[in-house]
Amino acid sequence: MEEKKKFYITTPIYYPSGHWHIGTCYTTIICDAIARFKRMQGFDVFYLTGTDEHGQKILKVSQEAGVPVKDYIDGIVNELKDLWKLLDISYDKFIRTTDDYHEKAVAKIFQKLYDQGDIYKSSYEGWYCTPCESFWTKTQLVDGKCPDCGRDVQLMKEESYFFKMGKYQDRIIKLIEENPDFLQPPTRQNEMINNFLKPGLQDLCVSRTSFDWGVKVPFDPKHVVYVWIDALTNYITALGYGSDDDSLFKKYWPADIHMVGKEIVRFHSIIWPALLMALDIPMPKKVYGHGWLLFGNDKMSKSKGNIVDPFILCNNYGVDSLRYFMLREVSFGQDGSYTNEAFLKRINGDLCNDLSNLVSRTIAMVEQYFGGEIPAPNVKDAIDDDLIATIDSMYGEVSDNMEKLYIPEALESIWKVIRRLNKYIDETAPWALNKEGNKDRLSTVMYNLCEGIRIVATILQPFLTKSPAKIFEKLGVEEGVLTSFDGLKFGTMKPGNKVSKGENIFTRLDINKELAAMDKILEEQVAAAKAKQEAATSDNVVKVPEIGIEEFEKVQLKVGKVVECQKVEKADKLLCSKIDLGEGRLRTIVSGIAKYYTPEDMVGRSVIVVTNLKPVKLRGILSEGMVLCASDENGKLALITPSADMPAGAEVR
Ligand code: MSP
Repeated sequence: MEEKKKFYITTPIYYPSGHWHIGTCYTTIICDAIARFKRMQGFDVFYLTGTDEHGQKILKVSQEAGVPVKDYIDGIVNELKDLWKLLDISYDKFIRTTDDYHEKAVAKIFQKLYDQGDIYKSSYEGWYCTPCESFWTKTQLVDGKCPDCGRDVQLMKEESYFFKMGKYQDRIIKLIEENPDFLQPPTRQNEMINNFLKPGLQDLCVSRTSFDWGVKVPFDPKHVVYVWIDALTNYITALGYGSDDDSLFKKYWPADIHMVGKEIVRFHSIIWPALLMALDIPMPKKVYGHGWLLFGNDKMSKSKGNIVDPFILCNNYGVDSLRYFMLREVSFGQDGSYTNEAFLKRINGDLCNDLSNLVSRTIAMVEQYFGGEIPAPNVKDAIDDDLIATIDSMYGEVSDNMEKLYIPEALESIWKVIRRLNKYIDETAPWALNKEGNKDRLSTVMYNLCEGIRIVATILQPFLTKSPAKIFEKLGVEEGVLTSFDGLKFGTMKPGNKVSKGENIFTRLDINKELAAMDKILEEQVAAAKAKQEAATSDNVVKVPEIGIEEFEKVQLKVGKVVECQKVEKADKLLCSKIDLGEGRLRTIVSGIAKYYTPEDMVGRSVIVVTNLKPVKLRGILSEGMVLCASDENGKLALITPSADMPAGAEVR
């Protein structure tokens, strides 16, 4: 038996943000339609998705929630899996970057790159955007903010490992220029070459020491691997690369399509190829950077008067409505907008008027004229040839469009046939044939309509996951024959099936009424969010109870002068200071400030010390007090000092 051709398609792995909106589902629905289409074409498909769980951003959020980070993420990942289930996403594997096999493989890859000299140690000073997990130089910032998302960045100064990405610059330019298929759509090629590659590719900082939620660098575990290196490798570790069993990797790599949103094309078309080149692994065949689904002008902004919660939209209007809108509305590769009204209009127009009505009218006529049994075709007419030719050419058009990733156009090719079938009803006027008693011609017309509908439903299966099965049931067509595109040829269906009317697959909506109902849901959402915020604020008040002055007075605070200071051995964060508190002796105090102050910075400084804290041993040193610091939300520390000179031992009140 001939071996099936392989097809490997991936979505990006999702940050476990927990803020799922319909934009988040865009990449996944698109890939699902492609994966299903390829399966029906007979390919052996592997469709990968998953979650990108390491990094500073998620750690910070979990800390704010006061939940251990992995527990925090587990809940969100389950929600995401529920969402994919609701949307009928037919992935073959869901990878989590916290999966053991992945973490081990990332460490192995890092070690290999280090051993072969592609990774080296140096120190990094630059600006870091935590939400984007991206490094920037000062000149790349726009008005001092992250050039990608416009948010605040923080100055980062760390000992780091670097990946020699610069060395692959020319090979990557060649890859993009000589293989136009590699990076699509074409506008993304110019963007990458002119904005990032031609100006010169810097080596990439690939480790962090300021937090530890990540894969530890195996030979220097105070470093964790930069989250993008960790994340990108998922595309090969999911197939077993770097594990004892890499048979899937051998079978499916290179990927046929990495589908990604346009904002992460840079990572996939520059960093990822450079890594693969360093690992001597073949390049993926295609990186496709699709556009954004916009709400207002922003991909992330709040709903701006629109319902963007996929759970609500699916529960109220059906999964197929949402899948159809996403696949059909936006010109693929470009940005497009979601509005409640556009969504409802697609349901009423394409799904209800065109598709659902065609099916219900036809079934009703088979019931009325032939007692519910699909008749055998009999007398032909020239008009049938045009219909049959349109139906028979549909698969070619659809598959051509899918091959080029012209997804809305692929649906348009199907709708051309749906509209042609509706027109065929008007042209043949079955009710008139019935009236005339022309059963021979009427049976041909009814067979042609049913057969056309069966073929449409078959080819719709990769796009809509619920309606085709409903249509087959109405037509009395048995499941099973329909898992491939065999049988798309007109005339394959044998006459004699029993039809059943049942409910319409889509019912016409009163748009104004629906819009009003949607507004009401939005109002409720706003009220619920407000209530949640108020509850959180009042929670905070409870969490930090008020204290009386007598309790405050129990804390003794004094000005101290740092006389000596040194690093604590084998503890990166700790400094050990000898502090004069006017007591005729020096106190030893250990503080976790080494990332922000050197021993030289400390000596001679005035600091504020809590002097009546019970002494504790830290790394074997008895610490007799605490030096006070201010701390921001990122854990950055700054010492508190008196604003004018004060003697050692002066009380702080
Ligand atoms: N974790 C990274 C990807 C690492 S891949 C090695 C990431 N995650 S994400 O959760 O922010 O985004 C996942 C996908 O959702 C991206 O392709 C992104 O473009 C897509 N979308 C999120 N919002 C979107 C819209 N509003 N519209 C279309 N797609 C958008 O990036």
